[in-house]
Amino acid sequence: MSQVELTSNIYWVGAIDWNIRDFHGYKTRRGTTYNAYLIVDKKKALIDTVKYTFSNELIQKINEITSVENLDYIIINHIEMDHSSSLPKIIEYAKEAEIIATERGKLGLIKHYGGNLNIKTVKTGDELRLGEKTLRFVEAPMLHWPDSMFTYLVEDGILMPNDAFGQHLASSQRFDDEINQHILMEEAAKYYANILMPFASLIIRKIQELIKMQIPIRMIAPSHGIIWRSNPSKIINAYMEWSQGKTRNKAVIVYDTMWGSTDKIARAISEGLTKRGIDVKLFKLRDSDKTEIVTQILDAKAVIIGSPTLNNSVFPSVSAFLTYVTGLKPKGKIWSFFGSYGWGGGAVKKMAEKIRNAGFEIYEQTMEIKYVPTSEELEKCRKFGEEIAEKIKENRN
Ligand code: FEO
Repeated sequence: MSQVELTSNIYWVGAIDWNIRDFHGYKTRRGTTYNAYLIVDKKKALIDTVKYTFSNELIQKINEITSVENLDYIIINHIEMDHSSSLPKIIEYAKEAEIIATERGKLGLIKHYGGNLNIKTVKTGDELRLGEKTLRFVEAPMLHWPDSMFTYLVEDGILMPNDAFGQHLASSQRFDDEINQHILMEEAAKYYANILMPFASLIIRKIQELIKMQIPIRMIAPSHGIIWRSNPSKIINAYMEWSQGKTRNKAVIVYDTMWGSTDKIARAISEGLTKRGIDVKLFKLRDSDKTEIVTQILDAKAVIIGSPTLNNSVFPSVSAFLTYVTGLKPKGKIWSFFGSYGWGGGAVKKMAEKIRNAGFEIYEQTMEIKYVPTSEELEKCRKFGEEIAEKIKENRN
């Protein structure tokens, strides 16, 4: 098999998971990769491993370049099992290898794989000399786990930030200059929205910290997807914009429906928004993928959520979505609510409470309609959409 070299003596030895479609609930419709990197110098270092199901593939790739027994260091940038779970297999061969991780990485590795591990801990600024090449470590707690760190290859200017700047994208191409840019940025945005969005302020600070360190970044080699070699600033700038909560005149309508009334309301609200020039994305939850919905929310100014009242409460699929989206903490949105009911309502009030309690800004007007909306009521829904459109235009985020 032909070897993939990032620059001289730095190799991609990862695995392509073409068929994964559910990554702990994240719908990976284009699959993913687990990127590991091998640095061959006087000392040999493996940066991260791959999901355990691909451990033989990783070992085979390393053996095509050097013998896995010859590894001196295994750098664990992040302990989550998609990156660390081949470690037990690797150290069966690389018995002398020292494992490098943060202090919290060490504690996590012991909990995952037992205490009999040869681990050295590192902090921000620590360096490891391999010969010609030097690794410098940058702790990155909560990007996206407490143990996370970045490894920077000083002489080559390559940042290996593990999950940050990644994409769930299986591809026979490895580099950004080889792939369709629209697909690449779509998957990068989806990854940011569903994995990193809760940590937006930490991302801004980490990027500022890297700028302050004055380290030239010539390439970004994340642990999933494509390597940013031609234009790494493209993804850094995108992360800054997403983390700052930059939005546009766009509304996302998310709802579920029992007998079609909430669906009719959703469509009428959408018509009102569209009439006032707002870009609308509309999703019925049972037919849609929450991973995709959250990606659309990333640059939207308004999120409008609808639910029928079921047993005096919110419809279960909507309730589950509220839990998911509030955990992701999207910034700078106007949140609004609508729904239908038979005798006693309640869903709209409960949805608004949940979002208010999460600290989000709410548009206080709501739309709740008994049984099936009449044509007059649908007209009111259109007007409701137009009112939200005006709020969107006032919002300067
Ligand atoms: Fe790709 Fe946090 O693991």
